[in-house]
Amino acid sequence: MTAAGISPVEVAPVRSQFPLMSRCVDGRPIVYLDSAATSQKPQSVLDAMDDYYRTCNANVHRGVYAIAEEATNRMERARERVRAFIGARSAAEVLITKNATESLNLVAQSWGRANLRAGDAIVLTHMEHHANIVPWQMLAAEVGFEIRWIPLDEQGRLDLTDLDRLLDGARLLGATAMSNVLGTLNPVRTLTDAARAAGAISVIDGCQSVPHTATDVVAMGADFVAFSGHKMCGPTGIGVLYGREELLEEMPPFLGGGEMIRDVRLDGFTCNDLPWKFEAGTPPIAEIIGLGAAVEWLEGVGMEAVRAHEIALVEYTMRTLGERFGDRLRIHGPADPLERGGVFSFDFDGLHPHDISQVLDTHGVCVRAGHHCAKPLMRLLGVGATARASVYVYNDTTDIDALADALDAAGSFFAL
Ligand code: ALA
Repeated sequence: MTAAGISPVEVAPVRSQFPLMSRCVDGRPIVYLDSAATSQKPQSVLDAMDDYYRTCNANVHRGVYAIAEEATNRMERARERVRAFIGARSAAEVLITKNATESLNLVAQSWGRANLRAGDAIVLTHMEHHANIVPWQMLAAEVGFEIRWIPLDEQGRLDLTDLDRLLDGARLLGATAMSNVLGTLNPVRTLTDAARAAGAISVIDGCQSVPHTATDVVAMGADFVAFSGHKMCGPTGIGVLYGREELLEEMPPFLGGGEMIRDVRLDGFTCNDLPWKFEAGTPPIAEIIGLGAAVEWLEGVGMEAVRAHEIALVEYTMRTLGERFGDRLRIHGPADPLERGGVFSFDFDGLHPHDISQVLDTHGVCVRAGHHCAKPLMRLLGVGATARASVYVYNDTTDIDALADALDAAGSFFAL
């Protein structure tokens, strides 16, 4: 047990539950350091999805025969598990989408279109992912509202000096809980409190935070929280939008079609109850069941333990890379491990991130190189792209040592 009473994560038994983590690439064991892009999946998630297809594949909320009811029950049980995992008051507040991007587009197209007018203002941060920028820019281009930006300090943390001024007269605040580039953990409650005090609603991008930290949407004080299944040990093709029930009740539907209606006549339609009002068409049934299994798996490890493990790995990574490479390597984002998650975007030896990533690949080390869907932030950092390593509960210090060795090799290779 740690001082805080949290059992440390034993990585070997955790890792052994992830089939992909035992594969080799070109004869080398894989070193997977790209979980901020997508996480690997434990066997229990694969089994849950496989079992659904093998034993009760049928459409949900439609059939009255046994396997259709079983499919519906499995799907709604998974939703309930997600509800409990994020602390939502009711399953009516847990909307199933395709991914977090769709969740954020849903807020923009439904709440935004119904509530934002020419001359209004919304506030976003300079570290947002494109998914929490472009939907608002698309709507602003039609409606004519202003987008204001919360700046960053020199360590890549939000500079909240002018927050009240920025929020003055604003209708909405959109912010990531954790930057996918800088790792910065933002003070969500401070932001949502300030937004509420200014009469604005808050939209939190939880893509990076929900998989890595314990989440309580009520304690966050957020009106909406978006996240994806595939970054939290679940499958692709499944996202979640938590929304406050009072807001969801008032909002018009997003997509139209089957499932989201109670009645359709030649002269119009009436909407279904929440959450199905926002779930047009056949939902991603296997994926929801897979996400439920992922949540069960994460609960088995314990989210406090996941976070404690990550803090230890962040400390180790920053110390190790700092000692081995000094000024040759610069990690963007906060220096304090308690202020960041396990995402390390770095510049190394003036090398192009794609060159770094290619050499690392020859050592079996998987990192992402690119703008990470955060081009405004890249411009602020003065770079076109970065290499980015990111860790999860199945990584340990041996992965970081392998990264450092491969970086050494990249430095030598390009110095020739
Ligand atoms: N948004 C994901 C990332 O940061 C895909 O890599």
